[in-house]
Amino acid sequence: MKIAVIGKGGREQALVETLAASPCKPQIFSYPGSDAILCTAELIEATDFDSLIDWMVSNEIDLCVAGEESYLVKDDGLANRCEAVGIPCWGPPKQSAQLEASKEFSKDFLIRHDIPTAKATAVASYAEAKVAIAGVYPTVLKFDGLAAGKGVAVCTDEAMADEFLSEVFVEKRFGEGRVLVEECLVGPEISIFGAICDDKFLILCPARDYKRLSEGDVGPNTGGMGAVASRQLASPELMALIEQSIVAPTVKGLLADGLPYRGFLYFGLMLTQDGPKIIEYNCRFGDPECEAVMPLLTGDLAEFCLAGAKGEFKPELISFSDAWSVCCILASAGYPATSRNDDLISGLDDCAARVFHCGTKKTEAGWVSNGGRVLAIVAQAESLETARELAHSEAAKVSFPGSQRRADIAYLNM
Ligand code: AMP
Ligand code: GLY
Repeated sequence: MKIAVIGKGGREQALVETLAASPCKPQIFSYPGSDAILCTAELIEATDFDSLIDWMVSNEIDLCVAGEESYLVKDDGLANRCEAVGIPCWGPPKQSAQLEASKEFSKDFLIRHDIPTAKATAVASYAEAKVAIAGVYPTVLKFDGLAAGKGVAVCTDEAMADEFLSEVFVEKRFGEGRVLVEECLVGPEISIFGAICDDKFLILCPARDYKRLSEGDVGPNTGGMGAVASRQLASPELMALIEQSIVAPTVKGLLADGLPYRGFLYFGLMLTQDGPKIIEYNCRFGDPECEAVMPLLTGDLAEFCLAGAKGEFKPELISFSDAWSVCCILASAGYPATSRNDDLISGLDDCAARVFHCGTKKTEAGWVSNGGRVLAIVAQAESLETARELAHSEAAKVSFPGSQRRADIAYLNM
């Protein structure tokens, strides 16, 4: 089996390595890939979408696996393009990926299908936003488009709200777009991953992501500074409630709306006193959750995804161990506002944990930073205590100038 994995981060490296370890022994290719991914996968020599599709056709790719969200909604959409040339794709078509790409689309979907979520109003200007906020803080402001996890501000006061609104409507930091003014939900968060195949689904191992930059869960939102994953993270009763109130109605809603879906679907949930509520959908695996979850997977992910992409649901092909997995992110100086490249990474050879490269480059001097999130250091153990001690102590062996890491990943329950 020949598989093309699309993307370049730590999530894609985790997918590539897990797919490569599948008993069916697939051959893995990647676009655009990274120096680290290309230690396991072969490079797809493409320069754009058209040449990527042409390459996959002429190299007889059996399965395309979408890692990163941007390709799902770019131009005609990755899955749509694959379908047009008869390549099964694990990842939804553009029309369905709006669930992630547009916050307004997903909010309408949630309300239409009666799926628990925060109340929200869509606004098109600074003035409209102020009317919708109506002086009630905390409030949550969300840019209505893809913003790499940075388009959301939980504002505790007017000054914070003004700053975010000015970034969106005056500086246009994320480009053109509207904003959702949303009710602020309170409770621990959990990331639930579904593998959706038309009308069927499998709920994978849950995880918790640590989105704020700094310890104590303060500071700006990031793409995620670490994650903890385990089947033990949520009780069977809670998982059953999530399945019945969130996942099943979503799959039913997709069918009812004529939105085809074969791929991972990520449900970002807040466990409120009134039950689990959806904060967001992502039409892909989480990052860094993927780096934490994949090492817990056993079975044949490649056969599972190929079957699913063809509309054959084979949940018996994969399962997750009962162990714990903890992932610590090392981010570069300036992240998340900016990032710094070319900082030389030291200590990788001493690190006994698994390392996925989120944003690095291989140079003659060694591996250097090449992006905001740089490395994911991941450890597994039977107990949470051992997994997190291992992850943190191994992560402490790796460093580069200006590196940022939260020492409370998997300690702090949020
Ligand atoms: P999102 O990009 O929508 O996942 O939002 C990023 C983060 O902002 C979430 O993980 C939450 O921590 C926070 N957040 C988003 N929506 C809400 C909400 N309605 N209430 C409270 N916090 C929220
Ligand atoms: N970890 C959050 C995300 O992947 O969006």
